[in-house]
Amino acid sequence: MRLLTALSLSSLTVLFSLIFIGGYVSASGVGLTCPDWPLCPQGLMPHDDFIIEYIHRSVAAATGLLIIAMMAFTLKSRESPRGMKIASIIAGAAVIGQITLGAVVIVERLHALLVTAHLALGIVLFSMVLLTLMYAYRIEDKRPVAPRAQ
Ligand code: HEM
Repeated sequence: MRLLTALSLSSLTVLFSLIFIGGYVSASGVGLTCPDWPLCPQGLMPHDDFIIEYIHRSVAAATGLLIIAMMAFTLKSRESPRGMKIASIIAGAAVIGQITLGAVVIVERLHALLVTAHLALGIVLFSMVLLTLMYAYRIEDKRPVAPRAQ
């Protein structure tokens, strides 16, 4: 598997898990168990009192790094078409926006409009990473297959 395919597939997988965890944070009402930003009350140490929110933030950090790496390698690659570059730039901007918005959601004590915007931006982000992955698969399909050694 090529680096770009691997990066976009792992970004999409981790992002999907993050959206799932985010839904759980929201539905179970634990969104303010970690009221500080950027770290929880015990710094980098997790604690039972805010473990779900702690996981949401940690996975968000990992997702951010993966998506920024995906964008950087897409922009660097000579094979990536224009549409793929645009999709990865939007994904990079959306992940930074989403992490910033996550902080604002906390500071504004879960304002309904902000939580809704957080969900909506998550959908835009997911679509752009999916699009990047589809382009990556298309590049792989077009590559000539190396002849097998007899
Ligand atoms: C790529 C990064 C992120 C993604 C994709 C993401 C996604 C989501 C999603 C889909 C939800 C559920 C929203 C709903 O059901 O209405 C959610 C909830 C939440 N997220 Fe994030 N999130 C990210 C980063 C962050 C960060 C960095 C924070 C910072 C603290 C954060 C704080 C929250 C909180 C507090 C909730 C629960 C809101 C509530 O109780 O209704 N998120 N997130």
